[in-house]
Amino acid sequence: MIPFNKPYLTGNERVYIEEVLKNGRFSGNNVFSKKCAAWLEDRLQCAKAVIVPSGTAALEMMMILAGIGPGDEVIVPSFTFSSTANAVVLRGATPVFADVRPDTMNIDEKRIEAAVTPRTKAICPVYYAGVACDMEAIESLARRHGLLALPDAAQAIGSAYKGRPLCSYGHMAALSFHETKNVHCGEGGALLINDPAFVERAEIVMEKGTDRSKFFRGEIDKYSWVDVGSSFLVNEITAAFLYAQLEQSEKITERRLELWTRYYRELEPLEKGGKLRRPTVEGCVHNGHIFWILLNDAAIRDRLIYELKDKGIGAVFHYIPLHDAPMGLNFSSHDLPTAAECSARLLRLPLYVEMTPQEMEYVVESVREVLS
Ligand SMILES: Cc1ncc(COP(=O)(O)O)c(C=O)c1O
Repeated sequence: MIPFNKPYLTGNERVYIEEVLKNGRFSGNNVFSKKCAAWLEDRLQCAKAVIVPSGTAALEMMMILAGIGPGDEVIVPSFTFSSTANAVVLRGATPVFADVRPDTMNIDEKRIEAAVTPRTKAICPVYYAGVACDMEAIESLARRHGLLALPDAAQAIGSAYKGRPLCSYGHMAALSFHETKNVHCGEGGALLINDPAFVERAEIVMEKGTDRSKFFRGEIDKYSWVDVGSSFLVNEITAAFLYAQLEQSEKITERRLELWTRYYRELEPLEKGGKLRRPTVEGCVHNGHIFWILLNDAAIRDRLIYELKDKGIGAVFHYIPLHDAPMGLNFSSHDLPTAAECSARLLRLPLYVEMTPQEMEYVVESVREVLS
């Protein structure tokens, strides 16, 4: 059986977890949380990183800090995970869905402006498969309209755009460390704060709305409830696991890119033969997070999933566009042809660090066989 994903272990997770057991400190914001945060701040060039329980939590904390509330609108792509829109809805605000580009499945920067209204507060682009959106266009549009740019960077660790880490774009960005991501800790995430104006309040919001961080630093003699907040911290065992992964993240990205590039090369003849389309990566360095293909129609895609499964290969579809989902129908009646049409034709092929050349050859050969 070739699974779609096999979570990678570096070997050091166990070593660092042993260290935590010896240290005897298990709650959030301890040694390993701080190491992870410092690593992210240094490598991803952000003013502050907060290690949180999930990518979903990072998005929720981001919307609190952005001051999103009732009556506000936030523009999100329709082709994304529910968490991007839920974070907006949980603040009592409205997600406004925009269509995506068929070449990257990222938000179509040319369609954003039409979705801007006097109520729009922010744009939340998603870096699908770790590939950059046109962030120059999006940041410039955000500046023109006085909006916040708040990327959902769940899949984007290790990617770069115009010579800078992709995660350093936008006022804040949300990362995921779910076990399906390149770097993981089972469940986890990070809120990356690029605009220092949000840093002070972040310390309060992550500590259940208290100024406990100042108290811990000895800056005040008691702490109290000063703002809204929640428990956005992770325990030390999770942070220790994550640190072992972060240390290896460059090697992980390198290996995934090798595998991604091999798929890209091997599937070229099928694209030339009109059987499928490969993803487009232009103007950025991506991280090999997902290798996806677009089949000619939904029926072929579904048949391919079924026949690959029969051959012991886990190939999977991805997001059902949110504007078409039962919950999404409450928010938007826009016509979003590309998201709907392309998501029905999209297929993700197995890709994991320990994938062998034989396994990849078998997947490619099987795709060829089914499509020919
Ligand atoms: C684009 C996107 N946003 C958010 C999330 C949520 O991340 P998590 O599972 O860590 O909560 C995911 C997870 O797959 C995602 O793909």
